[in-house]
Amino acid sequence: NDALNKPKKTRNIIEKMQETNKDLVVFYGSQTGTAEDYAQRLAKEGHSRFGLKSMTADPEDYDLDTLDTFPNNKLAMFILATYGEGEPTDNAVGFTELICGQDTTFSNGGGIDEKPLSNLKYVAFGLGNKTYEHYNAMVRKVDSALAQLGAQRLGDAGEGDDGDGTMEEDFLSWKEGMWDAVAAAMNLEEKETEYEPTLTVIEDESLSADSDQVYLGEPSKQHLTMSTGPYNAHNPYIAPILSSRELSKSKNRNCLHMEINLGLSGLAYRTGDHLALWPTNSDKEVDRLLRVLDLTEKHDKVIRVTSADPTAKIPIPQPTTYESVLRYYLEICAPVSRQFMSSLCQFSPSPETKAEVFKLATDKEYFKSKVSEKSMTLGQVMESIAPKWQVPFSLMVESLNHLQARYYSISSSSLTSPKVAHITAAVDSRTINGSDNVLNGVTTNYLYALKLRQHGAEDPRPYGLSYQLDGPRNKYDGIHVLVHTRHSNFKLPNDPAKPIIMVGPGTGVAPFRGFLQEKIEQVKQGTEIGQIILFFGCRRENEDFLYRDEWKVAEQELNGKFKIITAFSRETEQKIYVQHRLQEHSKQVNDLLQEGGYFYVCGDAAHMAREVNTLLGTIFEEQRNLPAKAGEELVKQMRNRGTYQEDVWS
Ligand code: 2AM
Repeated sequence: NDALNKPKKTRNIIEKMQETNKDLVVFYGSQTGTAEDYAQRLAKEGHSRFGLKSMTADPEDYDLDTLDTFPNNKLAMFILATYGEGEPTDNAVGFTELICGQDTTFSNGGGIDEKPLSNLKYVAFGLGNKTYEHYNAMVRKVDSALAQLGAQRLGDAGEGDDGDGTMEEDFLSWKEGMWDAVAAAMNLEEKETEYEPTLTVIEDESLSADSDQVYLGEPSKQHLTMSTGPYNAHNPYIAPILSSRELSKSKNRNCLHMEINLGLSGLAYRTGDHLALWPTNSDKEVDRLLRVLDLTEKHDKVIRVTSADPTAKIPIPQPTTYESVLRYYLEICAPVSRQFMSSLCQFSPSPETKAEVFKLATDKEYFKSKVSEKSMTLGQVMESIAPKWQVPFSLMVESLNHLQARYYSISSSSLTSPKVAHITAAVDSRTINGSDNVLNGVTTNYLYALKLRQHGAEDPRPYGLSYQLDGPRNKYDGIHVLVHTRHSNFKLPNDPAKPIIMVGPGTGVAPFRGFLQEKIEQVKQGTEIGQIILFFGCRRENEDFLYRDEWKVAEQELNGKFKIITAFSRETEQKIYVQHRLQEHSKQVNDLLQEGGYFYVCGDAAHMAREVNTLLGTIFEEQRNLPAKAGEELVKQMRNRGTYQEDVWS
């Protein structure tokens, strides 16, 4: 009887790895499948990039007290989701108890003090959600327990956040550094990878681009068939731009104010919410990529994207055209990854160019100096290597992200302007230090082009960009932009009598303009309001002081209840930022917050918002005579209560 003679499935992972000749095991603690999916991707990547023979493993299928016999030339990965209130996923309960337990003994009898896992090399990544307490508790707990047991982690322990939707990005950026550390520690050589398409792109000769079945920039089926709403993130609205103007203008910085008519769309917003704007790519980058992919002649050929796997998701609407894909549906201006270079390698037009692509794909420092530091687009990188390439278009569709909407803090109040949302956007066109490359913000330059069109003006900038503004998104009268609205928790206090302190340098002032419009309206309606202070910062009073006249009006209308405090950073030898002003007004800031005031910060997340957070803690300590760290704790409590709110971006 065969079944009886079959060797019993082993529960010893080391035995299993020896039997199947594996170098790498990826364990996953997964509840909904994401961690398992990441584990599979890592196993596959370990094999395709470094030739590691790899497997994934459900920790429930093994007795992991044998980890103390893990050979030191093999590698373990732990991809662990945190579930519920900081708990392990169901399939990782036993594993967590074993690793984190106080009196665990391993197969050779070693307890914690003997450092039983000193042979174990591992990497760790956690999947969590910042909106909950105990963020990524599982990976933190397991990682520190493994360290105590003597195991050696390679690279950083990564943490992904599902709360702000950056999980995939967090994963990608973690795994780049992780593989570098693994390759260095285990002496691995990166090898060339063969492209295995999952999608097929075919040209459809039976249709031409002017057929009404073909997507030429329409964001959804409803737009193609001219049916209407409801409008939302999957079916954005083509909104008329009622007016647009420049709030400030200097050599290579402009700030735009736009009023967008949500009119009869049914889209609504509340003061403090965000408006999502869908950009399109510039002629320059679209044309460049068509050229290097040798598709200029065929730009409006109708194509269909299919997959042999019926469950595969096709990331772009179809049928469409090569040009539409590059112009409307893919992020062709996003930072290029080394992984993409390694996929391109086999399609290099010559042995010399292949050597260059391989170097870019495998030499981190070289890639950084040649590509990332110059913020080159994919088209620029390819063009700098060879004028024409023969790359399967499916590779583009599979590897580049779908073109995403960008979110802007609405700068009007829904109380005074319910149907027309205002936005305040700085147009980004920076020359990159030490190169002649100009980094162009995708959406802001598109908005700027719309503004120029509305005013019938020429682009005055030497590096100006042009856009296709007559596509299906503008087949109506006037100038339009594709939008939807998004709820935000950034909200005025329910009680209008509460004092508010707002910190918003640069375009971070946007939502506060909406807040003030709301306050002015409240006063008009006879409502009693609390004290309001706005800390605003910009370069120079006469250069980029946004909405300057409006603040004056607000000061009058709010008769003594509102004060703006400015920090001009480039008018004095020493820079002056909003933080300096906060410090100068610490007593008043503290008093207002002690009276139950709300504190708001909007703008740059990486520096400004973090510094303001720390400073407020210090102000509390100074003003209230508290010990070190107590101020920070108070700010944390304010965040939990919703009296410290942030609307920040990086
Ligand atoms: P800077 O560009 O002169 O350094 C709006 O962008 C304003 O925010 C500018 O005056 C800018 O000054 C200032 N700014 C830059 N970094 C900042 C930081 N870390 N904290 C607060 N303000 C900052």
